[in-house]
Amino acid sequence: MEYLDAIITVVMLCLAIYLYFDRKHNYWADRKVPFLKPQFFYGNAKTMGRTESFADLFRRFYIELKELGPFGGIYLFTRPIAVVTDLDLVQNIFVKDFHDFHDRGVYYNEKYDPLSAHMFNIAGSKWKSLRHKLSPTFTSGKMKMMFPTIVAAGEQFNDFLQTKAKQQSELELKDLLARYTTDVIGMCAFGIECNSMKDPNAQFRVMGKKIFSRSRSRISGLLITIAPNLAQKLGISNIDPDVSEFFLNVVRETIDYRIKNNIQRNDFMDLLIRMNSADDTKSGDGLLSFYEIAAQAFVFYAAGFETSSTLLTWTLYELALNQDIQQKGRQHVLDILNKHNNEMTYESLMDMKYLDQILNESLRKHPPVPVHFRVATKDYQVPNTETIIEAGTRIFIPVYGIHRDPEIYPDPERFDPERFSANSEQNRHPYAWTPFGEGPRICVGLRFGMMQARIGLAYLLKNFRFSIGEKCKVPLELDLKGFVLAPKGGLWLKVEKI
Ligand code: HEM
Ligand SMILES: *[C@@H]1O[C@H](CO)[C@@H](O)[C@H](O)[C@H]1NC(C)=O
Repeated sequence: MEYLDAIITVVMLCLAIYLYFDRKHNYWADRKVPFLKPQFFYGNAKTMGRTESFADLFRRFYIELKELGPFGGIYLFTRPIAVVTDLDLVQNIFVKDFHDFHDRGVYYNEKYDPLSAHMFNIAGSKWKSLRHKLSPTFTSGKMKMMFPTIVAAGEQFNDFLQTKAKQQSELELKDLLARYTTDVIGMCAFGIECNSMKDPNAQFRVMGKKIFSRSRSRISGLLITIAPNLAQKLGISNIDPDVSEFFLNVVRETIDYRIKNNIQRNDFMDLLIRMNSADDTKSGDGLLSFYEIAAQAFVFYAAGFETSSTLLTWTLYELALNQDIQQKGRQHVLDILNKHNNEMTYESLMDMKYLDQILNESLRKHPPVPVHFRVATKDYQVPNTETIIEAGTRIFIPVYGIHRDPEIYPDPERFDPERFSANSEQNRHPYAWTPFGEGPRICVGLRFGMMQARIGLAYLLKNFRFSIGEKCKVPLELDLKGFVLAPKGGLWLKVEKI
């Protein structure tokens, strides 16, 4: 009899689990929204990070759902996700109906993990007030002030590469580029010489790597996806404790040092310190608490170095494959410098329009952030349909898929900066190109990111020639694990000094 009881219990339990998933996986069907058939437990995420990168996965969803309506449904495990495929709806979500979609709905934990309460993650009125306070940090006037700092890092990078290129004919560039952007953002966000160019084990670089390589345990990752509220209460954090401790200390020391010695520099930290409420947790009108300052410095650092170095990595890869474009870019840099007394000034860089065409085409083909996120904060009637997106629903915008849609970009695998020549954008939907997102929540560091990329690229093209050597596999394989769109194993190219 006891055996029978045990067997019945197990069967009932299995049935309950099955019914739970079945009910969860009926969400889209119940609402008559076109969807992709989910698998037990995984939903549509079985291949995610195993055989398919996040970017490719959502590109496939985009292709499969595009014909079915302005958006369609998928499941990440049990969580229903609305994947937007229509560019007018993208525009509505980003801009016109922003008041219903102002949050990303990503997990963070202010209480246990104060650094995670940064601008990218936080929600609602807190985000609004923070964004309002910090936007002035990124105006073109501020960019101009930081310009000499970035050029100095560019010079250092240039010198370093000259020495390296003499010793070795093929170099791994992804790491070198990340060291350049780490030095730039370390200077601009913390006012600290990170020296990661010269010293690959510099602490900032080591911590930076940790931010992006941390593989959270499977269980806590799943918990965050399935039951974020429980994860919240259990104090599950996204940021490695070593990383947190390091950044909190650096920010604390930097602030103390600057206040004590009355040091002012034209960088992000300076602007953050001026908003310091001199309290660890309390902020007020236009002021930020210590933790808030630390979290913002942290996100400038994390968002600033990895995305921009990824952009440059893909750009060099494409230029190595397309020697004619590389040569045209190089000539352009030389011509513009010539016009400006051969000086890398703010004005000469702004004049290098063709570099922007190259970078923008690179951002099209390889958007470092391959998917954008929003969450509906109210029930939303999708225009021209009967459908309602319910409050709390996660919305994903598959940029990588959109950027490689042959109906929008003919022959999408071809790298062609002429897609961004004057007037050619007029032939496209205004939301066909959104590597920085769009609307009030667009990347706040756009100008800064573009500027450091432009400066880096100008130095690289001026002094080096890049080509495919023995060690580079074409096409490059994508790193399946990371969220940022990156080549697996870095980028090996032949580098010759000119
Ligand atoms: C090529 C370089 C970069 C790319 C491709 C990039 C991309 C993005 C994207 C796609 C978003 C989300 C936008 C949205 O949801 O609409 C974002 C947000 C953000 N980025 Fe960037 N980014 C870059 C550089 C930077 C830099 C240099 C910084 C800081 C110095 C930065 C700081 C941020 C912050 C703080 C947010 C959150 C903004 C908010 O929620 O209000 N990014 N970025
Ligand atoms: C490239 O993108 C940047 C950022 O959105 C924009 O400011 C610039 O005008 C674009 N340039 C070209 C040539 O498309």
